[in-house]
Amino acid sequence: MPSALPLADPAPRDGLLPASVVDGAAERDFGVYVHVPFCRVRCGYCDFNTYTSDELRGARRSDYAGQAATEVALAGSVLRASGLPERRASTVFFGGGTPTLLPAADLAAMLSAIIDEWGVVPGAEITTEANPDSVDRDYLRSLRDAGFTRVSFGMQSAVPHVLAALERTHDPARIPRVVEWAREAGLGVSLDLIYGTPGESLADWRTSVEHAIAQHPDHLSAYALIVEDGTKLARQIRSGELATPDDDLQADMYELADDLLAAAGYEWYEVSNWSRGETASRHNLAYWRGQDWWGVGPGAHSHVGGVRWWNVKHPSAYAERIAAGESPGAGRETLDAETRRVEGVLLSARIRDGVPIGVLTASGRQAVAGLIADGLVEPAAAIHGTVVLTLRGRLLADGVVRRLLD
Ligand SMILES: C[S@@+](CC[C@H](N)C(=O)[O-])C[C@H]1O[C@@H](n2cnc3c(N)ncnc32)[C@H](O)[C@@H]1O
Ligand code: SF4
Repeated sequence: MPSALPLADPAPRDGLLPASVVDGAAERDFGVYVHVPFCRVRCGYCDFNTYTSDELRGARRSDYAGQAATEVALAGSVLRASGLPERRASTVFFGGGTPTLLPAADLAAMLSAIIDEWGVVPGAEITTEANPDSVDRDYLRSLRDAGFTRVSFGMQSAVPHVLAALERTHDPARIPRVVEWAREAGLGVSLDLIYGTPGESLADWRTSVEHAIAQHPDHLSAYALIVEDGTKLARQIRSGELATPDDDLQADMYELADDLLAAAGYEWYEVSNWSRGETASRHNLAYWRGQDWWGVGPGAHSHVGGVRWWNVKHPSAYAERIAAGESPGAGRETLDAETRRVEGVLLSARIRDGVPIGVLTASGRQAVAGLIADGLVEPAAAIHGTVVLTLRGRLLADGVVRRLLD
């Protein structure tokens, strides 16, 4: 089962936000995340908040689009009643789970509820994640017709034994087909890869990155495999059935991906993300830049002006709250100025734009000189007012960033 929610204050049943969220709201972008908590099967490594049919405890996938649309309407009223200005959504992102396990008409209905409630800015980025098994040509056309602009496929690897260790069900030969269908439909394409799977060699990883590049995606994410407690993968590693991922090999894999992607014209813009041209994910950048977003759905997290909250996790608990006309919020926390500053440093250190030197304390600023001397920060960027981590800095991001927070 997925991991637990953080501890904090209970969220109010009416969902209303404190007056502090209004400060500076007009200058912040607004985005919408829709969590779709369903998967056909659970992959052995994944602890996302997602449920197979036998785990739904009476909740029905077919009811979900209507429930999410109800939360969108509630969100609109809460934001208005809390005094926030009308803002159109700059980005919308459907993630999961597997959003594309629902009929395309359900995704279209949820998107149309969002457009009816807030509208979207011209050129808004509207993405859905998709499992390569769960879409075909007509499905992708319907998404485009509904207003989606981009699809992110969970490719993970091109090597059959790696996909098998990850318990992925798709045939690697399906990737070129779904990418072609998405392009034909006029959708931008992103591919997700995972590196460091037990049994995966550097040569296997090279094969996967080269196959991904050969599809000419606009955008690519490469995630180091995280062994999450409570997953089947964690049990297999503990019992010795699978080997523990090797940190040094993962670091070599990261560098190889960065070299291959740079040679193919992709530029990294966040620890795990590369893009070509103007295709960086604006939705994810908004998270890293601390903008506002409303997360719809079970377990979804939201952030508005320093207030963060999260919904009840299980789809049946979510369905009950929505049916009762109540906010599905489970807990929330209001961040004080120092916590916001520290989080701002942690998040901006992940991205190419870097950490504005002005947000560092005097000792944090002093630490920058040491980081430049150690080759962990780009000297030119530091001179221009931002601390940008170098390649080694990205791999060591947490330790390096702690020095900035001294
Ligand atoms: C919600 S899934 C993408 C859509 C669809 N569910 C799929 O898997 O094809 C988001 C991405 O998270 C990544 N992910 C999930 N669990 C992970 C883990 N334990 N370590 C690293 N990456 C993980 C995978 O790359 C996956 O594509
Ligand atoms: S299909 Fe995606 S969300 Fe579902 S279990 Fe696998 S990685 Fe997790």
